Parts: sequence; structure tokens; C-alpha cells
Amino acid sequence: MHSHNKEEFASYQQECYFYFAMTNYRQKLGRIAAIIGGQWGDEGKGKLVDLASPEYDIIARATGGANAGHTVYVGDEKYIFHLLPSGALHEKCTCVIGNGVVVHLPTLLEEIDVLKKAGIKTEGRFLISDRAHLLFEYHKELDGQQEKSKGEKKVGTTKRGIGPCYADKISRVGIRAGDFLDQNVFEKKLRAKGHDVEDEIEYYRENRARIEEMITDTFVYLHEALEGGKSILFEGANGVMLDIDHGTYPFVTSSNPMVGGLGTGTGVPGKHLDNLVGIIKAYTTRVGAGPFPTELDDEVGVHFRKQGGEYGSTTGRPRRCGWFDAVQCKYSARMNGYDGINLTKLDVLTGLEVLKIGVSYSFDGKVYDSFPASIEALEDCEVEYIEMPGWKEEISGVREFDELPQTAKDYVRKVEELMGVPVWFIGVGPKREQMLMV
Ligand code: GDP
Ligand code: IMO
Ligand code: MG
Repeated sequence: MHSHNKEEFASYQQECYFYFAMTNYRQKLGRIAAIIGGQWGDEGKGKLVDLASPEYDIIARATGGANAGHTVYVGDEKYIFHLLPSGALHEKCTCVIGNGVVVHLPTLLEEIDVLKKAGIKTEGRFLISDRAHLLFEYHKELDGQQEKSKGEKKVGTTKRGIGPCYADKISRVGIRAGDFLDQNVFEKKLRAKGHDVEDEIEYYRENRARIEEMITDTFVYLHEALEGGKSILFEGANGVMLDIDHGTYPFVTSSNPMVGGLGTGTGVPGKHLDNLVGIIKAYTTRVGAGPFPTELDDEVGVHFRKQGGEYGSTTGRPRRCGWFDAVQCKYSARMNGYDGINLTKLDVLTGLEVLKIGVSYSFDGKVYDSFPASIEALEDCEVEYIEMPGWKEEISGVREFDELPQTAKDYVRKVEELMGVPVWFIGVGPKREQMLMV
């Protein structure tokens, strides 16, 4: 480093930082790794995926669709990815959209255009599984209608058409990306849906060439990559408490964000995974309806929303906020078998006198230390809390675990103890450099 120019120095710092990232994230995570959301979504998955991506050849999405909103900061520039994997900013990464994802192609093309505008190379970097189901305008319309007809009982979906598209898939009447490759087959199948699809068909005709070149057998691509020694990072979407099987049904999404979804959603079995990281927020948030035992409607909830900027990345809705819930997080750890945790947004707890952690629920004379299935129990249970002292010191500039206030370290250790999983990374702010490795 010979220059005293401020801008050059900043870019040099960035470079050093990336060198650091490269020699560390991959070492910690292994060649084949996965990152999933351990709560109700928005835990900060996008940030860790972006940080680890420079050292991976392939970043793959497996489940969900444009209901996801994954935020990545590059300096002060903010990117929100809905369908593209969060490694999209790194030109050497190939991004795979697996068979388990429901793909709204216009949204995908828009996201690619944002990257193009930013001068990022996009040619040949994005692959869509020929087995992935396509999501159309009528799915979105149905989503809206279904929510409306549910009235008070609505799920509070993102209205991205996710439920109706998966419903078509499960009912065996979906249209897959592979169908797109034969224009006649595609148009015939879409018209057969009985909706007004002529405008869409026109759109797809205009964009045919761009879309066609992305559709491929990603099963073969991923397995050849595995066999050829390439590195793969799987990026989970949504959160495991929104899992159709293990979440707070019916207030869930229509896929399996849990670890099992990575296998069904890509065709790569779990035995290849070197490490699975659960992303866990230092408190809890949820968007949309459904039970939330540790939810707060007092000034602490307001503190979380304000300090944490808790507004949906996809819909802009204010997120509901509450204390860290060890009953929920232990359930999450058992369900997925995390090797390590990325505890995010620890900085948001700064300034609170007392920190509470939910450790058991009681309902109808019964004490639950595992997360129950019953929505009634979850809605009306009493939560038992433990209390820990907070801290006042600003921690967003801290870069070493040892430099955290003792009470913050104690909080992290308590999370590890309650979940039975080590904390590997700690987020102290939204920026790339605001991540500690433990
Ligand atoms: P995702 O869906 O899991 O990728 O998460 P979102 O992007 O929807 O929401 C997480 C929000 O928290 C984003 O605005 C991030 O920029 C921000 N964020 C991530 N990690 C941290 C952190 O450690 N501290 C703070 N203050 N913000 C963070
Ligand atoms: P990321 O990947 C937070 C929630 C919705 C709604 C329920 C069903 O950013 O963490 P859907 O549109 O999927 O039918 O909505 O699931 N939901 C999410 N909440 N983060 C997400 O994704 C979510 N994806 C779905 O708010 O309650
Ligand atoms: Mg999100």
C-alpha cells in the first residue's frame, strides 16, 4: 500500500477485508455449506451469504420464491434480492435457482437488470432448474383473493403468489421452466389455465432468448460440480418457523425452509453438507399473522423496530418484535442440526437495561419446553422468562469477540447454552465489515 489517496486507501481496505473473508468463511464453513433462517425469516441470511460468496463457486437457492427479501449492503448501496441468490454481486459466482423454487420470471429479469445497470457481469451466471415451477400473474391474483376471503383469519402473505403456485405443483398441474423451452407447449399450457394470459404471453415472447439461455438441468450441473471439486453454498429462504410441516401452521409459507428443503429443492442430498449455519436474530421478529409467544407491544418492541429497522424487505410492513425465544430456537436447532450459528443484530440490544429470554411456555396446566403444534396453546400460553443484564456501550464498531462488553458476551454464551449450538459469527450492524468471527 503506497498511496495516501483516501479513495484508494478505502478500496485497499475493502480488498484486505475480502482477503480476510476468503481465508476465513470458507475455512469455517467447508466446501459444501448451507445457511438457513432459524426463526420466522429476515434473520439476516443475505448478509452472511454475500460475505461468504467470494470464496464459493456456486450459490444455490432451493425453496420459496419472491416472498424472500434478502438485504446486502455494499458500502452505502443497498440491494434486496428476492429470487436471485445473494451471491449475485460476486462475478465469479454462478447462481443456481433450484427445482424447489417457484419462479416469477419477470421479477428475476428485473433483478438481473439492476445488476447490469450497476455494471456487474451477468452473462452466463444465472441458471434456472428445468424442473422449477413457474409463477404467473394469476397465482398472485389468487393469493390476493384467498387472503381477502379469509378475512380475519388471513395469513398475511407477501401476495407474491407463492401458495397458489405451490398448490398447482402439488396438484400436478403446474408449468415448469422446462416447458418454457418449447414455445408451443408453453403457450398452450398457459392458455389452458383459463385466465387472461395474452399480455403475459407477449412478454414471454419478447424475452424468450434471455430466459431460454438460463434454463438447464441444474441437478446435473450441481452434481458435476460436486464431483469436480467445486464449492457450493446453499442459501435458505424464509425461516424454519414458516415451514409448511414444522412451522406455525396454517400461518406458514407453502414450502420447506428447513434443512430438508435444501435436498428436495436441489436434488443434492444432505450427506454432502460439510456445515449448516443457522441464522438467528438476537431477538425475534415476524411479519404477517400467526402466533408469536414472546411478542412485545411495549416500548421494548418499539426499541427493536426502531433500532433494528424492522420493516419487511419485500412488503415494507412493520415487523412484529419480541424477546429471544429459547423454546423456539431449541426447536429450530433440533429440527435442522446446525453446526454453528450466526447470531445477528446483537447491536440492536444495546441500551436495554434488562434482556429477557423465553425459556418455557405453560398452557392449560401443562408446561412446554418444546415448541408445541397447537396454535391455541401458542396464542394463549404464558411464557416463563429468565433475565440478564444489558449493556450501554456502542458495539457496532467492535470487531473482536473479546472486545464486547462482558454482559454482551454472557448473552451470547447463554444463547449457545440454551440452543446447544456454538455461535460462530456475530452481527453488530448491517454492513459487510460489521461481523465478528468467534
Ligand atoms: P434475510 O431475509 O434473512 O436476508 O434478512 P432481511 O434482509 O430481510 O432483514 C435483515 C435486516 O437486518 C436487513 O436490513 C439487514 O441489512 C439487517 N442486518 C443484518 N445483520 C445485521 C446486524 O447484525 N445488525 C443490524 N443492525 N442489522 C443487520
Ligand atoms: P426471507 O427469506 C419473513 C411470511 C409472510 C406470511 C407467511 C406466508 O426474507 O426471510 P407467503 O407469501 O410465503 O405465502 O407468506 O410467510 N414470509 C416471510 N416472512 N421473511 C420471509 O422471507 C418470508 N417469506 C414468507 O409474511 O406471514
Ligand atoms: Mg428478508
